[in-house]
Amino acid sequence: MLNMKKAKLHFASALLLGGLMGASSMSFAETLKLSHNGDTKSPVHKALKFFADEVKEKSDGEIKVRIYPNGQLGTQRESLELLQSGALDMAKSNASELESFDPAYGAFNIPYIFRDREHFYRALASEDVGQKILSSSAKYGFVGVAYFDAGSRNFYTSKPVHSPADLKGMKIRVQPSPSAIKMMELMGASPTPLPFGELYTALQQRVVDGAENNIGAVTTYRHGEVAKYYTRDGHAMIPDVLVISTKTWEKLSDKNKALILAAGKDATAYMKKIWGEYTEQELQKATKMGVEIIDVDKDPFIKAVEPMFQEAEQNPVIAPYVEAIKALDK
Ligand code: GCU
Repeated sequence: MLNMKKAKLHFASALLLGGLMGASSMSFAETLKLSHNGDTKSPVHKALKFFADEVKEKSDGEIKVRIYPNGQLGTQRESLELLQSGALDMAKSNASELESFDPAYGAFNIPYIFRDREHFYRALASEDVGQKILSSSAKYGFVGVAYFDAGSRNFYTSKPVHSPADLKGMKIRVQPSPSAIKMMELMGASPTPLPFGELYTALQQRVVDGAENNIGAVTTYRHGEVAKYYTRDGHAMIPDVLVISTKTWEKLSDKNKALILAAGKDATAYMKKIWGEYTEQELQKATKMGVEIIDVDKDPFIKAVEPMFQEAEQNPVIAPYVEAIKALDK
């Protein structure tokens, strides 16, 4: 495990050093390094590939985006830290993790804030919500480029969960984020923050009794081999976010900035299309793997996390976003 980590770090520093040397001799094309923690079969990898292809094409090859999947360059947190120091150009993270780097992202992490997928997409596209949040983080060392659908988050566990009462005493892995921890405490479980890449082993070794995510975690990432119950309480829809280092961003011409943002919008739309198809297929695959899909009355779950709404309304950073999201639901 440790050696693996060392090897990864070695690999990452060799790549980053290569980047630095490349920069001084660079004349024509610029290659932006993009890190993410997803599998190459995942929709998010396909959406990032779509983004990279469009950037290359629209810039006539002047900008290339090289994708490093599977957390090769580190966890989401580590990638964000590299971005802040300017040692890495781009990363895909999730609004949940980003909350620790820019509190504005916390607005997406309030359970049940979105009524449905349509409401979620309206919030992402809205100038007062999604678009404003993307540009709110430049002072923290990164700029938001695009959102990607990451589905609806549900529990998957080693024993059936029908109501929050069943979560009592269960250790549930959450993303490393204050909102995720709070949500789990309110639902009655013990939150265990872990990077996504460590989760399969944690489930297998019973370090945790379950986790929560979209259905792809169960199938594409094989967590359904070790957690056999998927409870559709739909507590959150938290977007993945493509971000770029402020240092890299400032070096780009206005023309290249605009084409990167345009490619980001197109990649969001592409993801919207492939995500819907993916979710349907994966639900069937999960059932074939022997995972039981449990549909529940959501009300007790909604009630359990209500205090987070009230708290959000008192929080000066996220209250305006929460209000604007609510106003879109009319
Ligand atoms: C989702 C999301 C990832 C995130 C993961 C997690 O799968 O798309 O970006 O890393 O959840 O729970 O950590």
